[in-house]
Amino acid sequence: MSICYSEEFKSFYLNTPNTSYVFHINEGGFLVHDYYGSTLPVCDLREYAARLARGPKSADGTTVPCGTPMEYSCNGTGDFRVSALQIRNAAGNASTDIRYVSHKIYAGKPAIPGQPSTYGTEEEVSTLEILTQDAVTGAKVTLFYSAFENYDAITRRAVVENGSDYDMDLERVYSLCCEIPFGNWQICHLYGEWGRERTFERSNLIHGITSVESTQGASSHQHNPFVAIVDEYTTEDVGDAYGFNLVYSGNFSVQTEQIVDGDLRLIMGINPNDFGWKLEPGESFATPEAVSVYSAEGLGGMSRTFHKLYRNNLCRGPWKTAKRPLLINNWEGTYFDFDEEKIFNIAKQAGELGVEMLVLDDGWFGARNSDKAGLGDWFVNEEKLKGGLGKLSERIHGLGMKFGLWFEPEMVNPDSDLYRAHPDWCLQVDGRQLCTSRNQYVLDMTRRDVRDYLFNCMDNILKNARIEYIKWDFNRYLSEAGSLLLAPERQKEIFHRYVLGLYALLDRLVTAYPDILLEGCASGGGRFDPAMLYYSPQYWTSDDTDAIERLDIQYGTSMCYPTSTVSSHVSACPNHQTGRTTPLQTRADVALAGSFGYELDVTKMSDEDKEAVKGQIAEYHKYYDLIHFGELFRVIPPNREECAWVYVSEDKSEALLTFVCVRNRPRVRRRTVHFRGLDPNKLYADQDGTVRAGSVWMKAGVNKAQVMKDYTTFKVHLTEVK
Ligand code: DGJ
Repeated sequence: MSICYSEEFKSFYLNTPNTSYVFHINEGGFLVHDYYGSTLPVCDLREYAARLARGPKSADGTTVPCGTPMEYSCNGTGDFRVSALQIRNAAGNASTDIRYVSHKIYAGKPAIPGQPSTYGTEEEVSTLEILTQDAVTGAKVTLFYSAFENYDAITRRAVVENGSDYDMDLERVYSLCCEIPFGNWQICHLYGEWGRERTFERSNLIHGITSVESTQGASSHQHNPFVAIVDEYTTEDVGDAYGFNLVYSGNFSVQTEQIVDGDLRLIMGINPNDFGWKLEPGESFATPEAVSVYSAEGLGGMSRTFHKLYRNNLCRGPWKTAKRPLLINNWEGTYFDFDEEKIFNIAKQAGELGVEMLVLDDGWFGARNSDKAGLGDWFVNEEKLKGGLGKLSERIHGLGMKFGLWFEPEMVNPDSDLYRAHPDWCLQVDGRQLCTSRNQYVLDMTRRDVRDYLFNCMDNILKNARIEYIKWDFNRYLSEAGSLLLAPERQKEIFHRYVLGLYALLDRLVTAYPDILLEGCASGGGRFDPAMLYYSPQYWTSDDTDAIERLDIQYGTSMCYPTSTVSSHVSACPNHQTGRTTPLQTRADVALAGSFGYELDVTKMSDEDKEAVKGQIAEYHKYYDLIHFGELFRVIPPNREECAWVYVSEDKSEALLTFVCVRNRPRVRRRTVHFRGLDPNKLYADQDGTVRAGSVWMKAGVNKAQVMKDYTTFKVHLTEVK
């Protein structure tokens, strides 16, 4: 068991293979943080934290937490830094103070009812539950910690129960508070925009509060619920890297606070902005789960831990391990302009090249001939698809292919039968005009009747046609976020209730159809977060399919999300988003670093390009296991000139290096690109039969001047020579 408690030191020790996390109960019952980093033996670390405590003493002689590293910081009782918990009691006060009551340690990890989370068997993970209490508000706060046996990952969350006889209001209830010792820290995070999701940014942390947040009702294109705290000298391969990721699809907040000579505090959880939760006596509230990973092997080591954890202990269902079908999606090929024959012909010609599934995107239902109408009317448009989905699906299956379908369940166009029948089903605020975005409104996912309608529509479609895959889209954020069914004092709960409603519908769908492969999407990657990966093991990464733009997007995404979740397609050129023309092979080599597919009208391709596609598909099969289940090493981050990455199989018997020349320059200084992650003592042969030791492939590298044209690529595939 990776968690233990020392009665002698009143300390908890959470150990993963290479990390320790230690905290203790002090004289006053506060939970005080001692250490998080590389593995330490069980020892007394209590004075380590005491060095930081300062300020006045409390009445009972114990130190108030001013300056003290706290396990779960509370508001308004002497800790003047950012707080994880703020409860306003019936008397109107928001001062909060939790003290230790009891704890239990056990093998396994409980699920969070109604919410996604990582999971594991009793052999894989153990859990510490600490019950604390606030004597004044009567709140009982249980802190959950789970430590994984095989990965350097610890998960955190809290449950607050109203143990008083009066109502209380939760004003902020974060999932995690983490204290990182004083140092020269930098913050890495992923910012973006439609078409430019998860751009990596690394900057110095100021003295003061830094926040990365979403207020849009979804995790968003603009920010991702991921940050890493790294030392100024941390690289891809060495140095401290603390990664944090929230398993949540709604408004999130990450705040760091650094004070002079103090530890760096980081809190992560539901954004308290536009949030509140009323707890009646006996009711409880569960936060989402936050995941933390520490690595002394830099950002690369941190990422590889996230990848393994998410691949094995977050994604679920048969598609977690089963080989994903190689698909073609018609969106960029046809947009709304298609009929049954056009779709069938795309499927037929793609199938002849080796594509395994046709995904029919937006436009197959209601009066959906543009994005102006039809959303919500989940009934097949028989003018476009004569004979309906059942017939089309059968014809496609007749080609030996699978069939997938697009939905955007959470939305409605004002110009739709659904909206005309149920205007009350939208999120809305009485008297305020609803704003449209992409000509649509957001359905009130907090309502059971809305969720039932959506489930029944999807169920009806899925029962009446053979469908193996669903793309679940979400194309706008939440505004005028009110519900006609919620009492005024509960309207502040709407953003979180929306997310819970979304999870409920997703859960119902994947429970009823466990074999369907669900791909998440939100105008590209606007809701690419661990919570969505729990339901959908692959996610449409971005609407920007340009191979050069994708270098940045996939690099940032790889900080915490595994390659198997990164849905990535080859599209036509000039690229629809950037106008750029890149070689077909480059588009394929970049898309290979993901769940591979095509997004074009294959019937318009030249014979030469079709031949090339056959070769790409052969490569997809050849490298599938290596790319999906291997370890990723980011060799050269994307820059104005180049980018390179390596996949290495877990047993280190095989590796694939991909190099992209973005901008060729005369007299490039370093003409080699280097493998990483190989066994230095093993012998490896490349595809041309050159045999060298792993150390040579890593230290001497490969001549990269072999590609000297903008936007071209090369790959080097190594296999072990026994
Ligand atoms: C946005 C998605 O990101 C696209 O892939 C496509 O499905 C469109 N929506 C359809 O409206």
